[in-house]
Amino acid sequence: MLSKSIETALNKQVRIEAESSQIYLAMAIWAEVKGLEGISSFMYSQSDEEREHMLKLVKFINERGGQAHISELNAPNVKHKSYKEMFEKLLEHEIFVSESINELVHISLQEKDYATHNFLQWYVAEQIEEEAMARTILDKVKMIGDDKGGLYLFDRDIQQMTITSAAETPE
Ligand code: FEO
Repeated sequence: MLSKSIETALNKQVRIEAESSQIYLAMAIWAEVKGLEGISSFMYSQSDEEREHMLKLVKFINERGGQAHISELNAPNVKHKSYKEMFEKLLEHEIFVSESINELVHISLQEKDYATHNFLQWYVAEQIEEEAMARTILDKVKMIGDDKGGLYLFDRDIQQMTITSAAETPE
């Protein structure tokens, strides 16, 4: 059975994952209307993944005797100066999510809720991967700079990354 404070903390994370999904959906749209098809499909699939992260939390809260809460979401920023800035925001956002997961892990230990602690390990591992992927992408983006040919190849390759990561994602 979840304590009230753990339930509240987990529900806060439900909101963060839902907002993440919206943020990446807005990024997908931004890229799509700019004709950056690969980047756009990468962002659409990131958005889907975030929804999965949210649903996993929802199920866990309900299974443990709590009730998931779906709250109002903040509207995502829809303007980006460049695709580089967009990927910088992606990394920044994932770092923010990792911090939030770390805080949840901390609370679960404080409350000696080992079931929640164990459940959260999946998110800890996922955040390591998501941050690493965002850093790798950003390194590539920085390397390309203003090279149009580079952007063309990057847009093509990132689509491949989407397919690969989808194949690797369990569940
Ligand atoms: Fe669910 Fe990308 O954090």
